[in-house]
Amino acid sequence: MLIWFTILAGIAILPVFLKTWFPYFGQDFSYIMKCIVLGIRLAKYKRKPFYSILDCFLDAVKKHPNKTFIHFEGKAHSYSEVDKQSNKVARALQTHARLKEGDTVALFLGNEPCFAWTWLGLAKLGCAAALLNFNIRSKSLLHCFSCCGAKVIIASAELKGAVDEVLPVLRQQGISVYLLSEECSVEGIHALSDNISQASDEPLSPDLRSNVTFRSAALYIYTSGTTGLPKAALVTHERVWAASFIQAASGVTSEDVFYINLPLYHSAGFLIGLSGAIERGITVVLRRKFSASQFWEDCRKHNITVMQYIGETMRYLCNTPKKDNEKDHKVRIAIGNGVRLDIWSEFLNRFGDIHVRELYAATEGNIGFINYTTKIGVVGRVNFLHRYLFPYTLIKFDIEKEEPVRNAKGLCIKAAKGETGLLVGKVTKRSPFVGYAGNQQQTEKKRLRDVLQKGDLYFNTGDLLRIDSDSFVYFQDRVGDTFRWKGENVATTEVADILTMVKCIAQANVYGVHVEGHEGRIGMAAVILEEGEEFDYDGTFKTVANYLPAYARPRFIRIQSSLEMTGTFKMKKVRLVEDGFNPSTIQDRLYFLDSDKKTYVPLTEEIYSSIASREIKL
Ligand SMILES: *[C@@H]1O[C@H](CO)[C@@H](O)[C@H](O)[C@H]1NC(C)=O
Ligand SMILES: *[C@@H]1O[C@H](CO)[C@@H](O)[C@H](O)[C@H]1NC(C)=O
Ligand SMILES: *[C@@H]1O[C@H](CO)[C@@H](O)[C@H](O)[C@H]1NC(C)=O
Ligand SMILES: *[C@@H]1O[C@H](CO)[C@@H](O)[C@H](O)[C@H]1NC(C)=O
Repeated sequence: MLIWFTILAGIAILPVFLKTWFPYFGQDFSYIMKCIVLGIRLAKYKRKPFYSILDCFLDAVKKHPNKTFIHFEGKAHSYSEVDKQSNKVARALQTHARLKEGDTVALFLGNEPCFAWTWLGLAKLGCAAALLNFNIRSKSLLHCFSCCGAKVIIASAELKGAVDEVLPVLRQQGISVYLLSEECSVEGIHALSDNISQASDEPLSPDLRSNVTFRSAALYIYTSGTTGLPKAALVTHERVWAASFIQAASGVTSEDVFYINLPLYHSAGFLIGLSGAIERGITVVLRRKFSASQFWEDCRKHNITVMQYIGETMRYLCNTPKKDNEKDHKVRIAIGNGVRLDIWSEFLNRFGDIHVRELYAATEGNIGFINYTTKIGVVGRVNFLHRYLFPYTLIKFDIEKEEPVRNAKGLCIKAAKGETGLLVGKVTKRSPFVGYAGNQQQTEKKRLRDVLQKGDLYFNTGDLLRIDSDSFVYFQDRVGDTFRWKGENVATTEVADILTMVKCIAQANVYGVHVEGHEGRIGMAAVILEEGEEFDYDGTFKTVANYLPAYARPRFIRIQSSLEMTGTFKMKKVRLVEDGFNPSTIQDRLYFLDSDKKTYVPLTEEIYSSIASREIKL
């Protein structure tokens, strides 16, 4: 993720620019200097022999073996202990799974310390890890697994059920399945925990990974991009470093204590959080999942100084009942993205003077921003060197047609200052777009050609941003085929594919609608029924619940007699999104997914007002 080095600036700044940058010159300058220092470090690491984040971890182990690396559910695991544990995992996998350099292994694990040592163990063997989202099941799980090209999957004991479900297909494909548990009676699943505990904890020879360079695959991280099923973004070792520098660039020091409550299968938790913590050599307090009510308790108990957030985190924290001791904590930096202006101010008012480092980037993208000034609500700032080294531009975008506006010559048109436009990053050697594993078609979809000149090539972020007259960058929205709910991207086409598996549904148009008081948008679908069929409440619920994680399930369904298409045969969404789900203004029949009753029910005005008053929790 975060193309940190993209932001780094090479050359000394000419005094000429001082004036134009005023009054942010000081902040621009100190930030650029930090980036230069990090850029030099990265250049040094890339030389042969390549110095990877694993080497950095091993140096941290030498330097402070007894320092706590991960604190989890009341237990502290020191750097040395995690190192030894990862040796055992590596040895067990070497013996039993015959892993060798260059292999890819899928990890299907929750947020627990074994995530760290299993990954480190794989790194010691020179293997790449594909980080599966632990919410996915059946079809999505198989899809994600197969697109990274792994022959081995390692799952935690709690996820046995999910693995069981897809086991016949995995076995058919000759996949080795390992479960982190002492025993497992299912044929075809190997219980690995005993093997791990019996293995030696002696260090492994670096020769095992001698061919790994900064260009090698380190990880596959799944993104919902803009269309279709999740895609595996290839994260090279260079990218791992770039993202791991974000803590350093945000002012985190080796004394800090970092709080991770975001899922480790995302770039934010894994790269910025865990791998960044290794770069700083600090202690991480890991949580299975975010809890608003426990948040500040945890911070006080563990002397946490740096937190991570997504927009929802801030909102949930601001929604908790006010307490007298809210400012009584040591958190001084918050790193993340997606916080709204009003929430940002409220957060600072309630919880004290915390430096919010809001950033913008995509796992697979080639452009990123960070708010390095003291201005509230911005994701970053245009600076001359960033723009020079990593050219990007905002272009005019037609929301209705969901495509860039082009002029008579077929070229895109730059958005004016202050106008919202689609962010595109020029693909260059310095800012490449490596694409998605095993998915040439989706990779191609993210490429945009003939943008400012015939034959040029840009990465299409799919995000709408705005740059104001003072060069501050604001995130506006995401286009078309994805929306965000509960911090996860939902790909509308994936949901539509699942809905049309239901017998009564002929066509589905999926989109996200705003709900007052919530970040992001909640899933809704406009559907056409098969001729002569009635809407099947239970059948639809069963399919949706079986194939989609909770955050992706359409909570509202609207029955239509026809779906409006655009000139380019895409389904129209803008009107539907604006209509929302208010039964008193919409003539069509509406249904609501009732998660207690485990079925869809007609959406009544009563339900509608309970949602508005938050009696019904979404
Ligand atoms: C380790 O794995 C092998 C199969 O690969 C198994 O036969 C053996 O019993 C396992 N347990 C131990 C403690 O070695
Ligand atoms: C590294 O690459 C060389 C040359 O391609 C090969 O001979 C060697 O076996 C590789 N090492 C490992 C550990 O795979
Ligand atoms: C937190 O800091 C206080 C005071 O600095 C110290 O007494 C306490 O032991 C620390 N707690 C932890 C868990 O490090
Ligand atoms: C980002 O904006 C917030 C506004 O509250 C500010 O506190 C913070 O310092 C800014 N950025 C950085 C790098 O500190």
